[in-house]
Amino acid sequence: MTTGTPTVQATKRVHVGSEAEFEEGSRKIVEVDGKRVGVFKYRGKYRAYLNVCLHQGGPVCEGKYFPRTTAEVNDGGELIKEGSDFDSAHLVCPWHGWEYDLATGEHVADSSYALKKYTVTIEDGDVYVQQ
Ligand code: FES
Repeated sequence: MTTGTPTVQATKRVHVGSEAEFEEGSRKIVEVDGKRVGVFKYRGKYRAYLNVCLHQGGPVCEGKYFPRTTAEVNDGGELIKEGSDFDSAHLVCPWHGWEYDLATGEHVADSSYALKKYTVTIEDGDVYVQQ
């Protein structure tokens, strides 16, 4: 049995850049506490995830992302209409194609898999990320 005071480890806050230079639909990969983290700006919102895919550790944050595809089908299962939901996006790992919801980090087919989230804050026009 061990005794003593538990150690609280402070996490570093990393400056990602100014909001003005962070273009809509873009991303930046930064290092936070020695780990690579992808910071995304999509539809005016920022999200950040550890750049490690839950499948085999691929650089998921370097994959393509795009609006979620939607489909309407009738009672017989025939496709009536296809479209895109621009309010949500899917991030696709470049190694084997696992897809994650960019807003939540959850795998689109099994929400029990979720990318590790980081916190993004805006202060005086600058974007910061931390664990
Ligand atoms: S490592 Fe990401 S899909 Fe395989």
